[in-house]
Amino acid sequence: MPLHIEKVSHSYGAVEALKDIDLDIADGETVALIGPSGCGKSTLLGIIGGLLQPVAGQVSLSGPPPADSLNPFTYIFQDFALLPWRSVAANVALALEHRRLGAAECRERVAAALALTGLSEFAAAYPKQLSGGMRQRVGIARALVVRPAVLLLDEPLSALDAQTRELLMEDLLAIWAREKSTRVYVTHNLEEAARLADRVVVLSRRPGRIREVLQIDVPVAERIRPEHAALLIDVHRRLWSLIRDEAATAEREILDV
Ligand SMILES: Nc1ncnc2c1ncn2[C@@H]1O[C@H](COP(=O)(O)OP(=O)(O)O)[C@@H](O)[C@H]1O
Ligand SMILES: [Mg+2]
Repeated sequence: MPLHIEKVSHSYGAVEALKDIDLDIADGETVALIGPSGCGKSTLLGIIGGLLQPVAGQVSLSGPPPADSLNPFTYIFQDFALLPWRSVAANVALALEHRRLGAAECRERVAAALALTGLSEFAAAYPKQLSGGMRQRVGIARALVVRPAVLLLDEPLSALDAQTRELLMEDLLAIWAREKSTRVYVTHNLEEAARLADRVVVLSRRPGRIREVLQIDVPVAERIRPEHAALLIDVHRRLWSLIRDEAATAEREILDV
């Protein structure tokens, strides 16, 4: 569903984290948020999801969430936070507990989420038996099982090696072709932004402000085609030129802790 972020600013005590963020996200759109480390990306995601109350501004959704959506917002984080003593299916079902759903609906939702993430054969396995990539698929299935209207992804692939990350990017694209959430995808990886997002929002160094919004006109499903290789390289180059100086400055900053 459409999401509106209006004049959002946030501070932690004297530390200004975000300044005057205005952004409208269309229904079913994927927006990537990139920017130097510490610029307020996770803060903005927390504000969108309602974990944090901004000091100024507001976030709103247009219209009621879809009827089968149990949560308007769901997060996917970098660390999978799976319960080791629960099977894959039971970890996914965790998001349905205390929801007063019938057993049949729970089973149907878990089965659908496992199928969407390629985990059907692994329903009875335990997290320690799985690779990092499969564990993150469980994290994704657990988020999707509530059929969120807005999916909030905070560096979901950052803990994975390059090949696993590549496979998961393909999976995310396949999942997104089949489910209809609106998505905000925080990453510091420019390739993920260029491959997965309809629009890329570039934030400045802290306090994060919107520096630039880059629309990528080729649909995500088609970007992997050879004829778009030059476009992806160009997007990557433009994003890097936008954040390079600020990333270098942020890198050399002395932190007051
Ligand atoms: N709970 C907190 N208390 C104090 N400062 C915080 C807290 N969370 C984040 N910050 C600070 O706010 C800034 C933005 O943090 P964050 O949103 O995590 O950035 P990013 O996700 O872009 O790396 C950073 O300088 C960080 O140190
Ligand atoms: Mg962060």
